[in-house]
Parts: sequence; C-alpha cells; structure tokens
Amino acid sequence: MPVVIVVGAQWGDEGKGKVVDLLAERAEMVVRYGGGANAGHTLVIGGDKLVTHLVPSGVLHRHVRCVLGDGMVVDPRVLLDEIAACRQRGLLADGQLIVSSRAHVILPYHHWLEAAREGRAGAIGTTRRGIGPAYESKAARRGVRVVDLARPSRLRELVEQNLDEILPILRSWGRPEPGRPEIDRLIADAERAGQELAPVVGDAARAVDAAVRSGKNVLLEGAQGTLLDIDHGTYPFVTSSSTVAGGACTGAGVAPTRIDHVVGISKAYCTRVGAGPFPTEMAPAQAEEWRVAGQEYGATTGRPRRCGWLDAAALRLAVRVNGLDGIALTKLDVVRGRGRIRVCVGYRLDGVSLDEPPLDAGELARAEPEYVEVDGWGEESRAARRLEELPPGARAYIATIERLVGAPMWLVSVGPDRDDTILLRDPFASSPPQHP
Ligand code: IMP
Repeated sequence: MPVVIVVGAQWGDEGKGKVVDLLAERAEMVVRYGGGANAGHTLVIGGDKLVTHLVPSGVLHRHVRCVLGDGMVVDPRVLLDEIAACRQRGLLADGQLIVSSRAHVILPYHHWLEAAREGRAGAIGTTRRGIGPAYESKAARRGVRVVDLARPSRLRELVEQNLDEILPILRSWGRPEPGRPEIDRLIADAERAGQELAPVVGDAARAVDAAVRSGKNVLLEGAQGTLLDIDHGTYPFVTSSSTVAGGACTGAGVAPTRIDHVVGISKAYCTRVGAGPFPTEMAPAQAEEWRVAGQEYGATTGRPRRCGWLDAAALRLAVRVNGLDGIALTKLDVVRGRGRIRVCVGYRLDGVSLDEPPLDAGELARAEPEYVEVDGWGEESRAARRLEELPPGARAYIATIERLVGAPMWLVSVGPDRDDTILLRDPFASSPPQHP
C-alpha cells in the first residue's frame, strides 16, 4: 500500500492541513517530518475549526497513528498544550501519538536568541517559534533531544553548554541576561515536560518503518513549502529545515525507494509571510481584497499574508525538486469573481528568459515576472464535486496550470470544509488515474 508525501509547493500556507486531513481518511499513519510550531494547520469540519502546530493533521481520524518524526524541532510546552487541547475534544487516544526520541527540543534560550536577532538588521520576519536557533543547536551538535529530557544530568550539561555560547552573544547585543534562578527553572521545566511527555516518546523511525513494511498506508506530511526550503528556497528568506520531498525521507527515516507518490499543494494564487522577494506580489489595494476574500492571516502568528498572482514558474521548480506526481489546488473558490487573472509563466533577468525563478534573493528581487492573463469566472462552485461541475472559466484555469506546470491535477479544493473537494486521483487508491 502506498507511502505518500504531501509537500507545500509554494511559500507555505497552501492548505496542506485540509488535504492531509482528507487523505488521512485512508491512511493508517501520518508523520510530520520537519519544522516545528512555525507551522499552523487549520482543520475545519462542519464549521468547527482546530489549528494544530505540531500534531500531524491526521489527528481528526481516530484510526490514524500520528508521528512527530526525527527531523522535527519540538517545543515541549506547545506540544503538551496541543495534546491537552486534542484530548479535550476526545482526540489522540493512548498509543495514537508517537514523538521521536531523536527530535530536537526548543528551549527558552532559542526564543531569546531569535527575539534578539529579529530585532536587528537583516531580520527574516520569522514566526518567532525558536525554529532557526534550535536547528542551529542541532547542526552544531549541542542540541537537546527529546530523549535528553529524561536524563537530568545530561540535560543540565547540555543546557549549560548552550548557555555558555548564547549568553555572551545576548550580552554583546545589550539584551537582558537570565539569572541563576531563571536558568534553574528552565531546566526544571524541561525535566517536568520530559516526564509528562514520556508516555508518547518512542523510536519514531522504527514505528514508521514497521508500518511501511506491513503494507499500511503512510502519509508523510510536509510543513512550510518548497520555496522556504533551506537548500532549494529563496535563501536567506527561508526556514531552517528541509521542507521538500527529500526532507521527508531524512526527517521521517523512510528510504527514498519506499516512496510511491509525491503530491504538491498549491493555492490557486500565491501568498508569502515574512520578508523576502515576492515578484508576483499584487499592489496593496488588490492584495487586500484577496487577503480578505481568502482570509489570509497566519494560523500561527496572525500576521497578514502578502498576496500575489499564481507563479507557475515557481510551481515548475516545485515539480522538479519534489518530483511531484500530482498537484492539489486549494482555495479555487477565492478566485471566483475577482476579474481577469494573471499567471506568471517565467522570468526575465538581465535580458535572459528563465523558466523558473532565480533562487538568489538579489536576483529574484531584480527578476521581472512574465504573465499570461486568463478570464475569471463569476459562478459559484463550492457545491462542485466533479470537474465537469465547475464553471468553464475555472476548468480552463485548471487546464492552464496543468499545462504550464507540467503535472496533472489530482485534487481541487473549492471551499474550506473537508467535503468541499474534487478528488481526481486518490494517491492511496490502487485504481488507475481518473484524469487524463
Ligand atoms: P521560521 O521558520 O519561523 O524560522 O521563519 C522563517 C521564514 O519562514 C519566515 O519568512 C516565516 O514567515 C516563514 N514561515 C515559517 N513557517 C511558515 C508557515 O508555516 N507558513 C508560512 N510561512 C512560514
């Protein structure tokens, strides 16, 4: 049975939560493979809304085991609060959640460092969830892992080692320094969180492998998006993890040979949060219209998202880097009634035509997007459950995207609810594709 990666094809916020929730109906395990509480996945069922930051979007299905993989960075307090919120709704039964003992832990000094950095020149506009500094600790081999929370002397040693490096930096930037009592409290809190988390901590990669080997449907859930990937995104305006499909293999501990399908999620337009070049960004008044129509405010930070035209050239990059088999197009309903629609088909940089955006931030800021314009449509389409039930304009828009991007449409989302979906190809189905 298939192992499927679901990956963001843009700058995050593509609607992965809804798509994962929908596909998870047929999955037995959903695994988050990277990032941390910088993600915010909004799940809507019958008008009821649940936002998860760490727990995988399969959580609404009682038969799904939810795994936080090795590649994640976990803030223990956020996780404990989220587990409690899920349990209050009768979700996450005993044994349903596994948190990798090898995932790294975000501790208060990561927040201190990030807050200080984001207040200085060169700020990225991060989500301020401690993500970057935690991945720095990991790469520096000084990180505290989930397993260390249950080893008091090791935990203390690691925290002291980290503070030895971080406090002088904070001091040199004129930031307030924690005193001994605060540091002791930090360690005690981490230990307590470790005790509370102990029942859900395990060898995530072995659990995922066992599920894959026994033929279960396994979904590897990406966070953020391709253009925020540390290697393949618009560096330095990126997150600090491997968000692309390759990151699913390392982050979840699944061999590339085990992957059956990769599905890329794209909004029917484009958004970006935080700083960094965004060539298809709309003018402020128009962006505001789309922002309101699409409710484009960060699920984690509440920040207004920047809105822009669909960038088919960037999607082409996502198809290439992730090896996308199919696209799931979300928020098609938001496009309705917005007049003629522009789609970026390529770039001009220094007189040269490019079929993908340049990834160097300076070059991307200088590159000129080239657009085609297509007709919009005014007819309501939320009730559509088959492609043929969509207005002709919407169908033509979908066909244009497939042609420009070079990948078929597997799913189209026509509204926020789980049911507001046209499923053209189910990656967990064994039947052949329904769509040409
Ligand atoms: P960080 O991941 O908090 O370090 O933020 C780095 C960059 O990634 C910033 O531009 C954030 O706005 C962006 N980012 C991180 N997570 C998300 C997300 O889930 N959706 C959209 N943007 C994100």
